[in-house]
Amino acid sequence: MATAEQIKALLKSHAERDEQRFFSVALQVAAKEARQGHHKLAADIKAMVERSQRSGSLSVAGGKPTPLVQQPKGELKGLLEPVHSPARNSELILSREVRGRLEQVLLEQRQRERLAAFGLFPRRKLLFTGPPGTGKTMSAAVLANELKLPLYLIVLDNLITRFMGETAAKLRLIFDQIKQTRAVYLFDEFDAIGTQRGAQNDVGEIRRVLNSFLLFVEQDASESVIVAATNHPELLDKALYRRFDDIVRFDKPGAEQVRLLVENRLAMFNADGLAWDEITRVADGLSSAEVTRACEDAAKEAVLYHDATITTSMIVKALEYRKLGNQ
Ligand SMILES: Nc1ncnc2c1ncn2[C@@H]1O[C@H](COP(=O)(O)OP(=O)(O)O)[C@@H](O)[C@H]1O
Ligand SMILES: [Mg+2]
Repeated sequence: MATAEQIKALLKSHAERDEQRFFSVALQVAAKEARQGHHKLAADIKAMVERSQRSGSLSVAGGKPTPLVQQPKGELKGLLEPVHSPARNSELILSREVRGRLEQVLLEQRQRERLAAFGLFPRRKLLFTGPPGTGKTMSAAVLANELKLPLYLIVLDNLITRFMGETAAKLRLIFDQIKQTRAVYLFDEFDAIGTQRGAQNDVGEIRRVLNSFLLFVEQDASESVIVAATNHPELLDKALYRRFDDIVRFDKPGAEQVRLLVENRLAMFNADGLAWDEITRVADGLSSAEVTRACEDAAKEAVLYHDATITTSMIVKALEYRKLGNQ
């Protein structure tokens, strides 16, 4: 029999239309039955999961209507990459401050017609700063999913190396597209262009690109959402900040967020009795991405060696392992 936790997890994933999680819990139930010698039942469950996955009864984005993302054609090909991310708002764990800023963007975007009636415009040019693995890219994807807009990724660094000498012209193409098609456009790690001053990079070209990028951002009067994300805000010219409607400073998770990240990632397991003080103490200094990966490591250990029972020491061990990787 499935455990109470598994039944709850099945119901929760159904309610949230999280297809991947639903099937992964179903497969856990199958694995448990197999361990208890109920091989026929286990095989039946597994076959049912495989059949439904093939027929794709729900979309990957969790059953929400996924916006039709046009594949960029012609000259835009290779400049804009459409991204389908299953990132879910409910799994995004942020400080109250950062959460508030993102919710404000969502609210203003959703109410843009009401604002327009008073000559007001929603926030839409955003600068995300903060250490790696704190959820900047994920937040851009959540904005797109919540607003049911396509998400396009522009890697400026690629743009420069691939179109040396003609990057400003390529940027114009991108901003034309931003005007034509309302979507979320993510200029990810765009500071890379300011920092890569290696021998093969022409510093003059990089400056020119950064300057035209800023000019285009400033002039843009489209309805799209533009997100520029950077791990190194200190390298950016302060003049740049003025061109954005909001600056969102992401940070490593505090104790409260660590607990939520762990609870989310280990939702399939019984987390009663975990020593949260110890877990959050050990996790201090790790990014949200590292905490998430540590949880996945601990989950695998629980499944493979401990009959799917998770303990504080498994989580602590996995967190310490991630910390070692940082040294
Ligand atoms: N704030 C967060 N809440 C939940 N998961 C997170 C968060 N930050 C990072 N993660 C996890 O780590 C992965 C990588 O994070 P990402 O958004 O790429 O970080 P960044 O862009 O800041 O470097 C995400 O896909 C997600 O699984
Ligand atoms: Mg990122």
